[in-house]
Amino acid sequence: MNNISGLILFMNIIEEQINNAAKLLVKSRFAVCLTGAGISAESGIPTFRGKNGLWRKFKVEDLATPEAFNRNPKLVWEWYRWRMKLIFNAKPNPAHYALVDLENMEILKCIVTQNVDGLHTIAGSKCIVELHGNIRRARCINCNYKLIFEKPPEKIPPKCPKCNSLLRPDVVWFGEPIPSEALNMAFKMFSKADLALVIGTSGIVYPAAYLPYLVKENNGVIIEININRSALTRIADIYLQGKAGEILPKIVNLIRRKNY
Ligand code: APR
Ligand code: ZN
Repeated sequence: MNNISGLILFMNIIEEQINNAAKLLVKSRFAVCLTGAGISAESGIPTFRGKNGLWRKFKVEDLATPEAFNRNPKLVWEWYRWRMKLIFNAKPNPAHYALVDLENMEILKCIVTQNVDGLHTIAGSKCIVELHGNIRRARCINCNYKLIFEKPPEKIPPKCPKCNSLLRPDVVWFGEPIPSEALNMAFKMFSKADLALVIGTSGIVYPAAYLPYLVKENNGVIIEININRSALTRIADIYLQGKAGEILPKIVNLIRRKNY
């Protein structure tokens, strides 16, 4: 088999798998979705562990732990402000909008995201669980006052307008528990699902990475979309290798045209 025929065969396999994914989504009773940094990569937001990923350039222990914040809140805010500038300038991409379409078709019931960029909300998704918080918000370390940023803070570290204590990014740092409301909602959604889309996550950070196993325990189906194999590919019934912004709109179009 020469390279051309090999490539054609590969493309045919992907197309067939995309058809199967569309069919399974339409047949599903309660479909949910887990997203990671990969779904926002095409919006220009760096992932954490991919090529040029944040954790390849920066040290977690210096920037994303409560200890790091206590040691040097200014350094942590400098980094978060840099990320906020990227995120405030970013727009949702076709993958985010395709999930909105699936929700409007009443196929997708809810998204659980590990992302703190808020792009699912901006795209128009309604049911979203932000497991790791949201970088557009800060909260007071003393009175828990919450502040929503319209733009990245000029003066850092920002202070609480109520009690003048330090504000911290309203995200979940390594070693911190997931807020119980978000965690309970995520487990509730995945426990009753018969299908989960797993999009753009390396699947190594828990408890998020555990959620798809709940669907498998229910004999449900896992459809993964990722440019690379992840730690969750081994439980995926369908693994679609490619960019989420290219594959998800194809699935939506097939469903829309009932052509699967
Ligand atoms: N389309 C689909 N998948 C993609 C794309 C794309 N365009 N670009 C990258 N990916 C995949 C990568 O192959 C990788 O598997 O997205 C994944 C991103 O993985 P990580 O960078 O590890 O991000 P994530 O899984 O979301 O990290 C989980 O770790 O650092 C913490 O709290 C942070 O929420 C984050 C958590
Ligand atoms: Zn306060």
